[in-house]
Amino acid sequence: MLRLVIMLVLGIESSCDETAAAVVEDGKRILSNVVASQIAIHERFGGVVPELASREHLRKIVPIVDEACQQAGARLDDIDAIAVTEGPGLIGSLLVGLVYGKALALSLRKPLVGVNHLEGHIHAVLLQNTMEQQEGKPVPTAGFPNITLVVSGGHTILYRVESHSSPGNVTPSFSYRMLGQTRDDAAGEAFDKVAKLLALGYPGGPVIDRLSKHGNPRASEFGRIRMKGNQLDFSFSGLKTAVLYRVRGTPLAAEAEERRAWREASPDKPILEELRAHCSQATLDLVASFQDAVVTDLIERTVAAASAGGIWTVFASGGVACNSLLREHFAKAAEEHGFNVFFPSLRLSTDNAAMIAAAGYYKLATGHCDDASLNAHASFPLGTTLV
Ligand code: KG4
Ligand code: ZN
Repeated sequence: MLRLVIMLVLGIESSCDETAAAVVEDGKRILSNVVASQIAIHERFGGVVPELASREHLRKIVPIVDEACQQAGARLDDIDAIAVTEGPGLIGSLLVGLVYGKALALSLRKPLVGVNHLEGHIHAVLLQNTMEQQEGKPVPTAGFPNITLVVSGGHTILYRVESHSSPGNVTPSFSYRMLGQTRDDAAGEAFDKVAKLLALGYPGGPVIDRLSKHGNPRASEFGRIRMKGNQLDFSFSGLKTAVLYRVRGTPLAAEAEERRAWREASPDKPILEELRAHCSQATLDLVASFQDAVVTDLIERTVAAASAGGIWTVFASGGVACNSLLREHFAKAAEEHGFNVFFPSLRLSTDNAAMIAAAGYYKLATGHCDDASLNAHASFPLGTTLV
């Protein structure tokens, strides 16, 4: 069994539109964390184009891994193990990172471990917390069991996460139970689609987050999102359609078309102030109300999961966990309900390979190792499901 001898894990992540590599020591200290974003390539399509993503991963994977090693001051030979995302994600994208990771492991004769991307997002929170404690920051310990909300462009899932220790091994292992998930669009996907409809740019989450600060979330309220059956499931497609109905055939639609033409004619991506100047107050109110509805729903269901399980620790991770209103309202809810809420830094919330290296470290240290038969899976649920 591989134990604490493993020190440096090279993480590789390529599940969607970010080619990422990182070197992490003992699952706790980031030595490098390099991310090559493909936003500029997918921007004009308003979403990720899978074929373009795979091709770009192919171009970037070797230089990005080299850069991660260089920044960590490590040669490939110094790496003790390789952790690579095996799913879920775009199959062509996943395969690029996975095959490269496998080839590296084989040629360097190093252990290889496949990591679930969702497990990586959960570990990003732990990694952040450990780093802050190591830096001497007075932060509480991100403990277990906890309720984790993974919320990104591809996923909106609630997990109950537990840690387990085993005799003779100081490193814990983790188990995951899925409590609820989106039945249609992921929250980040809804942000991206609403931004596309209103010609606000891509990705939609960050731009809606910033513009919403200038809008009134009460001006165009959407009401609660109602679910039949499991109350810990999510649904955002109805909300997205409700935005469409408030735009179609109104002056907001003509305004969005003008904005689209203006953006297409501009050689550079507009800065926020320019974009804001091209938005009416009604558009700003609409995006603020949409964001408020998404954030309220995410927090209410997460708090319900925590209360139902008698759990006092909440993690939130994934690209949408960068949202400033989500962070602010989660902090208020935590104070009100008496739980602790933990987020990764913004850089560790979005897709990155440090979270894959950290999750991989714990798997390796508790005896998991994969061989050359490791394969990529577009659909790859994490843990067990509540029945
Ligand atoms: O985790 P991530 O980098 O990739 C996926 O696994 O999907 O998340 C990307 C998603 C996009 O949909 C993006 O619009 C959203 O995260 N996002 C945000 C914010 N920053 C990124 N959504 C809301 N507010 C933000 N500040
Ligand atoms: Zn992700």
